[in-house]
Amino acid sequence: MGPQYTELKAETDAAIAEVIRTTAFINGKQVGEFEKALAESVGTKYCVGVANATSALWATMKALGIGPGDEVITTTHTAVCTTEAIALNGAKIVFCDIDPRTYQIDLDQVEAKITARTKLILPVHLYGIPVNMPRLLEISRKHNIPILEDCAQAQGAEVGGKRVGSMGIAACYSFFPSKNLGGMGDGGAMCTNDEKSAKFVRMFCNHGRLDKFNHEIAGCNERLDTLQAAILNVRLKRLDAWNAQRRRVATIYSEALSEVPQVVLPQAYPDTTPVWHLYVIRAKDRDGLAAYLKEQGIGTGLHYPLPLHLQPSMAFDYRKGDFPEAEKACSEMLSIPMYGHMTEDQALEVSKAVAAYYAKSPATVSA
Ligand SMILES: Cc1ncc(COP(=O)(O)O)c(C=O)c1O
Repeated sequence: MGPQYTELKAETDAAIAEVIRTTAFINGKQVGEFEKALAESVGTKYCVGVANATSALWATMKALGIGPGDEVITTTHTAVCTTEAIALNGAKIVFCDIDPRTYQIDLDQVEAKITARTKLILPVHLYGIPVNMPRLLEISRKHNIPILEDCAQAQGAEVGGKRVGSMGIAACYSFFPSKNLGGMGDGGAMCTNDEKSAKFVRMFCNHGRLDKFNHEIAGCNERLDTLQAAILNVRLKRLDAWNAQRRRVATIYSEALSEVPQVVLPQAYPDTTPVWHLYVIRAKDRDGLAAYLKEQGIGTGLHYPLPLHLQPSMAFDYRKGDFPEAEKACSEMLSIPMYGHMTEDQALEVSKAVAAYYAKSPATVSA
């Protein structure tokens, strides 16, 4: 049983039982309740529940009129889902490298890559670290190009006191179980202040209709399940507390690991509140460290081993060497444990194990 379920067992069981009792498995009232609560939490007028974030991105780009001949600027360092959504709309993916301190999209490259065909900028608040939005908003205004925020990993993060997802034309969210706000299966949403886009996404993801028998456009079936919405309604109330705990763990890591010269710590931009979906360090002899931590019973991850411009499905005309910062980061990075129910003691234990590895094997890692 996961810690989120354990904490909220009684309320979650009751919410699930209510859906079963009413049999409103599709478009039940819990979906509308969740959409309202999420819009309030993000600070947008509209929210539309979608089956997952990949489909939310796909549908939102469609709502914005993105299609063949258009260019969408994004980062090469993200989950493949971000760029799948661009490819599914037939638009050209224009990759940018990253700022190596924060892992976020390099905004100098964003501006340099704008052409007459650029129709959208798609930043990703990767690992829950917000992109430098004040500067990106300046670029967007200067060139009159909208921003669609990929907030899949950044539910609840803030820039200058405003939630991510409230600053561009629209934003997409994922409720994949491991996300900061995770469900018990797939789930997603788009948030926006743009009524037209919200209406389009609602129609498109529900067979092109707003009422039962009038199908105004050719759509698909990508709705958020009532059961997931009911579970997410319970969990959304705890999101801020879980994110605060992630920040406490990150503070412990950044203090304890600053003593370890073989490790480079992730940075956030000033005046931002990250939510640390992942805590990704750069480590000398990364694979050796991962193997050592595994022996100590500490799991780690790679997010991601390959930048997208080197993935066969997304490479198009790109090749090795095009984005050196992302390529270097992918070879050095390691995600160490991070979740909303992690304790300070556990974070200290992980930090000690990292330090112990380098203390034991300085020769291996001095290269
Ligand atoms: C940055 C990013 N964008 C989009 C997605 C897609 O989310 P989903 O799994 O809900 O389709 C993910 C999920 O891993 C993600 O990490």
